[in-house]
Amino acid sequence: MKVFVNNKEYSAEPEDTIIELCDKIGVHIPRFCYHKHLSVVASCRMCLVDIEGVKHSQPACSTPLREDMRISTKSEKTKVAQKSSMEFLLINHPLDCPICDQAGECELQDISLEHGDDHSRYMQFKRVVIDKDISPLISTDMTRCIHCSRCVRFGEEISNVKELGLLNRGEDMKIDVFIESSVSSELSGNMIDLCPVGALNNKPYRYTARTWDLRQICGISPHDCIGSNINYHTYNNKIVRAVPSENPDINQTWLSDRDRFGYEGIYSEDRVKKSQMRVDGKLVELDFESTPSEVNNLINNNIKKYGKEKIGCLISGQSTSEELFMFQKIFKGLGVSNIDHRTKESNFDYQKNYPLMPSLGCNLEDLDEYENIILIGVNIKTEYPILSIRLNLATKNKTRVHSFNFNSLDENFDLHCKKIIDHSNIESFLNVNNIELDQGKTLIIIGPSVSRSPNQSNILQSISKFSSSIDAKIGFLTESCNSTSGWLLGNVPHRELGGNQSSIIGKNSYQMITDKLPSYILYNLEPEHDFFDKSLVESALESSECNIFFTSYITPMIEKYAHIIVPITTFAEADGSYINIEGTYQTFRPIVQPSKNIYEGWSILNKILKLNNLGDYSVANIRDELKKSLEGLDFNMSKTDMSNTNISPYIENKILKESYRETNQTDLIVRRSESLNQATKIKNKLNYKNMNNEVKKSYIDITK
Ligand code: SF4
Ligand code: FES
Repeated sequence: MKVFVNNKEYSAEPEDTIIELCDKIGVHIPRFCYHKHLSVVASCRMCLVDIEGVKHSQPACSTPLREDMRISTKSEKTKVAQKSSMEFLLINHPLDCPICDQAGECELQDISLEHGDDHSRYMQFKRVVIDKDISPLISTDMTRCIHCSRCVRFGEEISNVKELGLLNRGEDMKIDVFIESSVSSELSGNMIDLCPVGALNNKPYRYTARTWDLRQICGISPHDCIGSNINYHTYNNKIVRAVPSENPDINQTWLSDRDRFGYEGIYSEDRVKKSQMRVDGKLVELDFESTPSEVNNLINNNIKKYGKEKIGCLISGQSTSEELFMFQKIFKGLGVSNIDHRTKESNFDYQKNYPLMPSLGCNLEDLDEYENIILIGVNIKTEYPILSIRLNLATKNKTRVHSFNFNSLDENFDLHCKKIIDHSNIESFLNVNNIELDQGKTLIIIGPSVSRSPNQSNILQSISKFSSSIDAKIGFLTESCNSTSGWLLGNVPHRELGGNQSSIIGKNSYQMITDKLPSYILYNLEPEHDFFDKSLVESALESSECNIFFTSYITPMIEKYAHIIVPITTFAEADGSYINIEGTYQTFRPIVQPSKNIYEGWSILNKILKLNNLGDYSVANIRDELKKSLEGLDFNMSKTDMSNTNISPYIENKILKESYRETNQTDLIVRRSESLNQATKIKNKLNYKNMNNEVKKSYIDITK
């Protein structure tokens, strides 16, 4: 279709509105209530434009295009209309920019500078709104609100949790909550970004810095396997806030609260700032230069003393791909096969038939192409909040989502069916007669509650058989943000870098712990939280002769059982990369500089590699190797067959201890975020009654 904007001809899509066309061709139209991911309400009237042949100016956000339409965004009529709208919007706005955190990035400030007047004709008293303490993450100054309703529509349309509402009318209209502190969804922080003025602000960041003093560096979320893109803002070499970096294929314009506030954990008091070694039963500081050789001596002495098969090497799936690459390079190079990143698992019979790497089986943006999505052992709302946005939209389209979990947990999107299942009955339960499927494509998504199950292999086998019977695809959502790299880069005892079978099959993480080896190397892992059974790990560490910890944080167990502690960087202080669950490889650079005695993880591993004459890498070299391993891989696997697995019998009545993962406890950084911990406390308080009821429920409930 042919249209004219400011006398220039453009070809346009017939379904576009004026504002959509102008955004595409780079013609700016001021707006407040319009947002490309929200419904159109056309309430602020800031986007008024002049259309030839139409008497009054029309809102560009709600006016569809028509053939030969002639639009003017710069005419005198347009300017007068926009100026008048601006004047109305500023009537009740306090104009307190000098004390407002939004100043410098405020849409109202920018637009009023361009389209407003330099004086006000309004001489009456301005409206004042009393604020409520709505959340530990969001501060409010509701007197600044211009009633654009973006925050309300976000709750209604995107997060599907209606937390804020528009109350009253006219002069008394206000945005409010019904119960104090009740803004507690896992996606609540997005309302801060959506608010075009300083009415909703980032509470932990409040009054920390002025926006024009901040440096912005893009990073990738280390808190889940979706790989959201994040712009970190730093001030004096410290991250002070995080906002979404738009990536239409992954997180669009959204971020989960965990991704937004998780960085606070970097500044936790229990960060290890210097290397330490145990001498006469006490940990003493070790100097920076000699640490790599001390660690290397210890590793090699242990191999000599106990034998290669007696060394246990465990690394977190939250480590960067560079760290995972270097870790296996050292230990496999030294002939140690006991290497694993699956520390939360305890049943590994499945591993031989497992795909090359866990993958969602499709791109995130293609989820809405499935008629049926079956979630097994996962709570998307709390574990992968950003994914819940995609599923919410998919359910509004044509997708039926079924949730089968071991616990009764709610989702924030419509479920066609929700059932609590028991491990022992899963095979009989997964039956076409029990599950009401729509005609069309089906995707089964397996979550971390399955991988944590002591009956994981049995469950995977049942799912595999079921998927074949209904011709469904299988996808995975993993425990850590980079578990895919863990598999692909050979941090498993039975596969090499790139996925080839190892000639010698080492012990898996469960065997390493239960066999009580004389020496362990733990990388980026906390014994208290990152294993399937805390007490088993403790007794393994206690009986071991030498435990080497590469860690960012010190915990009571590390302090008690470590023979050497090497302080390493977090994701924010070093170059790194992650492979997300759809197979996207994303790199990032350091956001802040680490303190001077902390090692970049990959670089200390490289020093150890070099000391053993096993190679010498730079970040660029490592990435070249990684890219080679990724070449030609198909993450959209058409079929995953694990039905031939030889499995041990089902473990009777062994109920999962930790099948439910608390949103803000998923990894060692997020666990230390003070704001998120406060938010969790409040949420638990609000849900207390509900939780009590859940506990009383029968565990096994396979009913229609
Ligand atoms: S609080 Fe902000 S986002 Fe919500 S209606 Fe007011 S101005 Fe709009
Ligand atoms: S942006 Fe069009 S009316 Fe608000």
